[in-house]
Amino acid sequence: MLGSPQLLFYVACFVLAESKVANVNRHEARKFPDGMLLGAATASYQVEGAWDEDGKSENIWDTLTHREPCVIAECHNGDVADNSYHLYKRDVEMMRELGLDFYRFSLSWSRILPTSFPDKINEKGVEYYNNLIDEMLKYNIQPMITLYHWDLPQKLQDMGGWTNPHIVDWFTDYSRIAFELFGDRVKYWFTINEPKEVCYQGYGSASMAPLFTMSGYADYICTKNLLVAHAKVYHMYNNEFRPAQGGTIGIVLSMSFYEPESEEHAEAAEDLTQFEWGIYANPIFSKTGDFPQVMKEKVAAKSKAQGFPRSRLPEFTPEEIELVKGSSDFLAINHYTTTLVYRNESVFGYHASPSYYDDIDVISYKDSSWEGAASSWLKVIPWGFYKLLTKIREDYDNPTIFITENGFSTRQGLVDDDRVSYYRQYLDVMLDAIEDGSDIRVYTAWSLMDNFEWLQGYTERFGLYEVDYESPDRTRTPRKAAYVYKEIIRSRKLDFHYEPDMSLPLTIDEEH
Ligand SMILES: *[C@@H]1O[C@H](CO)[C@@H](O)[C@H](O)[C@H]1NC(C)=O
Repeated sequence: MLGSPQLLFYVACFVLAESKVANVNRHEARKFPDGMLLGAATASYQVEGAWDEDGKSENIWDTLTHREPCVIAECHNGDVADNSYHLYKRDVEMMRELGLDFYRFSLSWSRILPTSFPDKINEKGVEYYNNLIDEMLKYNIQPMITLYHWDLPQKLQDMGGWTNPHIVDWFTDYSRIAFELFGDRVKYWFTINEPKEVCYQGYGSASMAPLFTMSGYADYICTKNLLVAHAKVYHMYNNEFRPAQGGTIGIVLSMSFYEPESEEHAEAAEDLTQFEWGIYANPIFSKTGDFPQVMKEKVAAKSKAQGFPRSRLPEFTPEEIELVKGSSDFLAINHYTTTLVYRNESVFGYHASPSYYDDIDVISYKDSSWEGAASSWLKVIPWGFYKLLTKIREDYDNPTIFITENGFSTRQGLVDDDRVSYYRQYLDVMLDAIEDGSDIRVYTAWSLMDNFEWLQGYTERFGLYEVDYESPDRTRTPRKAAYVYKEIIRSRKLDFHYEPDMSLPLTIDEEH
């Protein structure tokens, strides 16, 4: 019965299976889809420096690093950082050396609006961003702008920052100025970078400015205000600017993958997922909108048992649910790592109560055998990235995805084989997800260069370029990963066997 058509079919299947195996074994280079954009990112406070120059006023990181310098590793601060305020031409030269399609950076609110409000626009600050944008466009590098990457004007923090509902107006007014100033040339906008880190780390724990530790209250209030502020800005752009400017706009979520320790902990992992990023993704990207049901139920039940007259998780009005639902042209993801999750009796009393983590009732950890980076939280788990992309495709009806951050931290040193290996493995599974049908259009390496890594100061380095913080001109030198990323962008291929010659300088190709 095994006639020749069937035989051919079996041979074809065998060949196909072989080529799949070949990919997995990395014997051949894999092509990136046509039109996919490859770039790198930074953020204002982490690179700009010039903290009090040309009329800029203080933000919450200026205040924190000056008031309590040694809560930062080695008492570092961002006063000078990479001095990009003065060295932006070198930054663009590096983008050209790498051949980047785009560069994602953020605006410093208090540099553009020193009073925090649009009553006074700081021309010098605007000039800096105009110079940077124009220098990039001269070489066909697309600017992608994040409006808010954590450096809130201090004056707004003094009024409660993201826990004050007036932040919705403050953020909308500031964003309008940014669209008016730069929207003629900038076609990619991100409203807010990593709300979870803004709200939980900033207001629920002492791990980001302003170091509030009102977990279970302030973090939830921040979340609601932030989502409404984001949505208002989305609709403002959509209604008032998009018709003339024609850009695209969305929110950037930090999305780790949460793996159950074993199958019996699947619900625990899903609960943690919903609290960690479903809290932002569900209101915007689900069909129903609003906070995840499991979150609403859990926080309400805990609050009641604790004697609160209402849930500590604020409610959206029906109008707010509609406002927030669908308020993003794409899902922008910052992804780095994976965490294991379980729930058993030992969770009772494990977390302080009331608190955000007490509301979730799970315990999470990293396997001690997992390969790590210089950052304790960053473990190399490419299969987690693949599972995350699959879950998003399935849970949110295959949204358009931008990967807006992905990267690996080391200490100093130019030969960063572990970073090279991380990028290759993560890009490999991203290509797997694309083959499965994920609609991923943008990939962004974090970061273009070493920079101020928040409470870790300059002790954890994420750069494709190393920055010498001892030198007054903050000399930037390409690491091995820069050579490898350049070749990926040039060839539009992922080749596990490419070995760069680091004795040659990383030069600008003609077309850049
Ligand atoms: C709970 O699970 C953890 C992780 O598997 C285990 O180490 C611990 O012994 C368990 N505790 C109880 C009380 O079952």
